[in-house]
Amino acid sequence: MPHTSEVMLHVNGTPHRLTLDNRTTVLDALREHLRLTGPKKGCDHGQCGACTVLLNGRRANSCLSLAVAHSGARITTVEGLPRGTDGLHPLQQAFLDRDGFQCGYCTPGQICSALGVIAEAAGGHPSHVTAADGPSPGEPVPLTADEIRERMSGNICRCAAYPHIVEAIEDVAGAAVTS
Ligand code: FES
Ligand code: FES
Repeated sequence: MPHTSEVMLHVNGTPHRLTLDNRTTVLDALREHLRLTGPKKGCDHGQCGACTVLLNGRRANSCLSLAVAHSGARITTVEGLPRGTDGLHPLQQAFLDRDGFQCGYCTPGQICSALGVIAEAAGGHPSHVTAADGPSPGEPVPLTADEIRERMSGNICRCAAYPHIVEAIEDVAGAAVTS
């Protein structure tokens, strides 16, 4: 029985056909086979969020996702974020402006997760802290600090930059709402 499979991954807009051991995670495919080291391996079992990428537009822990199960998927890593004329995505700039990191190990995952959070709230997905008398289902959920803390709770920062991470996301979420 073969232990490898042909897998097609569309990463940051570029198609890649890979022959991978069936046990290869999306994280290892990105880091070890495509040399994209933005997504980080923190815990390797779904506990820290350092490996977060966008998988078909939704945030996912790439360490928990088998590449063979996602053949044909569109994957965006921190390297593939759309950038402005200054070379940075607005969230990257906000993390700089707000001092939202120290060692930076968790930061690519934080930024990819924050992108997912902003899209989920804009799409009306409630969180555990969304007020029962809040927006109707499907209406955008305002990203308060409490909403951001709850929705980002899967992304651990050993340097405890949490207050500044929340401020950075508030900046971009607020700009997205008013623009
Ligand atoms: S490395 Fe994936 S959640 Fe920690
Ligand atoms: S900035 Fe060091 S782990 Fe978050």
